Amino acid sequence: MNIELDCITKRFGAVVANDGISMTIAGGTIHGLLGENGAGKTTLMKILSGYQSCDAGTITLDGQAVRLGSPAEAIRAGIGMLHQDPLDVPQLSVLDNFMLGREGGWHLRRRAARRDLDALCRRFGFVLDPEATVGSLTVGERQQLELVRLLSLGIRTIILDEPTTGISAPQKALLFETLQRLAGEGLTVIFVSHKLDEVRQLCSRATVLRRGRVAGEVCAPFSDEELVTLMFDQCLERSPRRRVPLGAPALTLQDASIRTYRLTVRDLSLSVCAGEVLGLAGLEGSGQSLFLQACAGILPLASGTLTIAGHDMTHQPYRRFLEAGVAFVPAARLEEGLIPGLTICEHVALAADGDGFVIRWPAAEAQAAEAIRAFNVVGTPHTAVEELSGGNQQRALLALLPEDLNLLLMEHPTRGLDIESADWIWSQLLQRRDRGTAIVFTSTDLDELVENSDRIVVFSGGVMSTPVDAGCITCEELGHLIGGRVA
Ligand SMILES: Nc1ncnc2c1ncn2[C@@H]1O[C@H](COP(=O)(O)OP(=O)(O)O)[C@@H](O)[C@H]1O
Ligand SMILES: [Mg+2]
Repeated sequence: MNIELDCITKRFGAVVANDGISMTIAGGTIHGLLGENGAGKTTLMKILSGYQSCDAGTITLDGQAVRLGSPAEAIRAGIGMLHQDPLDVPQLSVLDNFMLGREGGWHLRRRAARRDLDALCRRFGFVLDPEATVGSLTVGERQQLELVRLLSLGIRTIILDEPTTGISAPQKALLFETLQRLAGEGLTVIFVSHKLDEVRQLCSRATVLRRGRVAGEVCAPFSDEELVTLMFDQCLERSPRRRVPLGAPALTLQDASIRTYRLTVRDLSLSVCAGEVLGLAGLEGSGQSLFLQACAGILPLASGTLTIAGHDMTHQPYRRFLEAGVAFVPAARLEEGLIPGLTICEHVALAADGDGFVIRWPAAEAQAAEAIRAFNVVGTPHTAVEELSGGNQQRALLALLPEDLNLLLMEHPTRGLDIESADWIWSQLLQRRDRGTAIVFTSTDLDELVENSDRIVVFSGGVMSTPVDAGCITCEELGHLIGGRVA
């Protein structure tokens, strides 16, 4: 199936997730869709698979303009999408999930479906017990199930969104083999990834998105140089960075490691001083988020020690980190930082050090009004936080942080914000830095990292690089470090 996307545009509030994207995908090939986090890949693919509507643009399949109003319509048109987070029903059995979306009488269907499922699994070497509940399967097995389900519905194009996240190495090898075989049989495969080596291994062509636009298109054999340059923005002329004299260490890690079921981050030894900004770079899931959570006291260290402003905080509870002047602002502002349904005023009341459960509403309201003024939030004390735009949510969150922090940990402080809001957020952060707060932040925006950090460390597969001086590195060099190639 030949696919043509023409000028696809999609906005979420102030964010233009897809900004006039045009690309063509040749039938029977594996086409890569590459780009850093937030580049707009998932949005574009949800539009192509009927999960989201676009604001403008057209989709043409084998020369015919189509309207894909729902996932079911897209499947009827021959397009199925494997989502990054499985959309299956964990309580149901493998067979019941396999039958989702099928038509016809239930009993007849069940026997036929079981035969189809067995045949497809045999064909690809998948081992799935039809009676097992889906909740008991691994991520890789759920993916195999979703793949054979979509194939049994007769799709001719399969979209896979970051399919290798969370699956084992053998599952990944089997998936790649399956995709190559399917493409050989004429199926069109769109492979979405932010990992260069996977695209290099699998795809014959790749389109690179950057900030909602097509940055370029490349053919195999791919050059890393070319892909990295397309994926990451080039730096603009940089104004000389202003630094403040550094104080005593605010954060010190000694031989620390963090262990989760997905990733182990090890050999963390590092100090960040009062008045210093440390940027954490790396592809998503490389360990930088775990690092922040450990420094915030949310994740325990598996080994080693953690010191905040001279106090040993290893294995201390979260509450003690707050008392030690540590604040953590997560990327998911609305899910983790702010409470949907509550107003700005109610947030102020909650954040205040009250006497037990007594809330002083007039004081909270006055304080909320003051914070709204000082932080230029577009809203009133009685605006519910989910009604605020992303930029205003971030301003509100900053307004709620305690004044004098030793250590401020931020995940993607300006992701999804317009440039004006992003600049404003950084002016606020750097004022805190000037007053002696150490700031550690993650970002996928190379300009943001290079412009605001004093030093940068790069995470890759749970390993942290030695810090580099941000004044001595260009965005391009940093892009190479992140892509796993030494500049
Ligand atoms: N449902 C949504 N509501 C608001 N913003 C969104 C939504 N989905 C995506 N975005 C924003 O659109 C941009 C592109 O996101 P996405 O398509 O998920 O990128 P990618 O898959 O390349 O990481 C990001 O800035 C993201 O925050
Ligand atoms: Mg995505």
